[in-house]
Amino acid sequence: MHFHIVSIFPRLFHSYLADSILKRAQDNGKIQFSFYDPRSVTTNKHKKVDDLPYGGGPGMVMMAEPIIKLWETITQKTFKEKLPFTKKRKFKTILLSPGGETFTTGMAKTLAREYTDIIFICGRYEGVDARVAEVTGAELVSIGDYVLTGGELAAMVMCDSIARQCEGVLGNQASLEEERISSHEMYTRPERFSYRGKEYGVPEVLLSGNHKKIDEWRKTH
Ligand code: 6GU
Repeated sequence: MHFHIVSIFPRLFHSYLADSILKRAQDNGKIQFSFYDPRSVTTNKHKKVDDLPYGGGPGMVMMAEPIIKLWETITQKTFKEKLPFTKKRKFKTILLSPGGETFTTGMAKTLAREYTDIIFICGRYEGVDARVAEVTGAELVSIGDYVLTGGELAAMVMCDSIARQCEGVLGNQASLEEERISSHEMYTRPERFSYRGKEYGVPEVLLSGNHKKIDEWRKTH
C-alpha cells in the first residue's frame, strides 16, 4: 500500500511514522509514504495556498489549483511505476473533512483490500475549495464527531488503521489480536500490584489455566 499525503505540514507525520509497527512495515516494504506540499507548486510570488471565501465569512479556504496539480502528478507519475507481478494499480482519493462520512474499521478493511494507492488531501483553515473534490472524485471522510485544526491528524489515524489491515504489517499472532483487544480487560505481571497500601490482584480465572473458562470470562469482560 502506497499512502500519498497532500499537506502543507508534512512534518506533522514524521515522528509517528518513524517508530513502532509503521516503521517496521515501511522497512519491510509492506507500506510506503510519500508527501506533497501544495506550497511547492504555487505560481504566485508569496507561495500563497489559501484565499478568502467567496460569499464572505471567517477564515481562509485552500485554493484548488496547487492541490489539483499535485493530484495529477501523483496519479500520472505513480501510475507508470511498475508493481510486482502483473498487479494493477488502483487509486483512491480521500479528502479529510469534518463533514464527511465517518471512518470505520470496515472502511479500513475495504480500502486495504481494494486499493494499491490512497491519496489523502489534508485541508487546513476553514476547508478546501469544493472544486478539488469535484475534479478528483475524492470521497469526503471524517474520523469522528469533533473538530480538529486540520486534516493531518485525521489522515494519520486513517493510515494507521488501514496499514494494520494490510498483509504482513502486523506480526503473525497479531491478526488474531483484533477481537482479543477489542473485547476485554488484560493483565500482566506482577500478579499482585500494590498502590498506596492497597493490593490489586488478577482475576482468579486468568491464572487457572482452564482455557475454556478463560474464553467464557473474556466474552463478558
Ligand atoms: Cl477529517 N478534519 C477536521 N478538521 N476535523 C475533524 C475531522 C477531519 N474528522 C474529525 N474531526
